[in-house]
Amino acid sequence: MMEDLAMQMLELLMNSIQAGAENITLEITDSLRNDCIVMLLLDDGKGMSKELLERVSDPFTTTRKTRKVGLGVSFMKGLCESCDGSFAIESEEGKGTKVRSEVRKSHLDTPPLGDLGAMMMYAIQANEDINYTLSYRNDQNEFVFRSTEVRKELDGVSMLEPEILLWIKEYINQNIKALEEG
Ligand SMILES: Nc1ncnc2c1ncn2[C@@H]1O[C@H](COP(=O)(O)OP(=O)(O)OP(=O)(O)O)[C@@H](O)[C@H]1O
Ligand SMILES: [Mg+2]
Repeated sequence: MMEDLAMQMLELLMNSIQAGAENITLEITDSLRNDCIVMLLLDDGKGMSKELLERVSDPFTTTRKTRKVGLGVSFMKGLCESCDGSFAIESEEGKGTKVRSEVRKSHLDTPPLGDLGAMMMYAIQANEDINYTLSYRNDQNEFVFRSTEVRKELDGVSMLEPEILLWIKEYINQNIKALEEG
């Protein structure tokens, strides 16, 4: 299963959404200089108990009722570790969760970053009421997307309108592309 990083991050975003977060921030640092990609996810969802946190990276840990395995966390952890990176979760019940995933950019098994615009679009589609912040920075520049700003501009129109969702996806991808091209 060769998935890009954006789709793996979407799995983690879905966990934050399912945890009832109101604010979700995803900070991506893509550094050629340090030869790494760091993905930091912060949410203010219900968090995890110590006991759950200790076994959350095990594929057989899930609190979902429909399927006996949960793959989001364990897969990302495995991916980071096989790409010469690291993976860490901090969480506090009732407060929120912080997930830090890092890979070595030049490692042969490191998947491409992928479609960050589509990732954000799917997250908004899953719950448009959450305040999402997505930042992408490389060694030179930074781009920040805030769903609150889009919501304000839309003045009551739903972000779930297909044209709006597609616009968000393109807007994010164009800005990141421009930034990558310097
Ligand atoms: N951000 C989070 N906040 C609170 N709980 C979380 C968070 N991320 C993961 N969890 C807990 O860890 C469990 C395992 O997550 P994981 O993504 O690995 O599997 P899953 O979400 O249960 O299943 P799947 O991702 O396959 O749909 C979840 O069921 C949930 O209880
Ligand atoms: Mg999950």
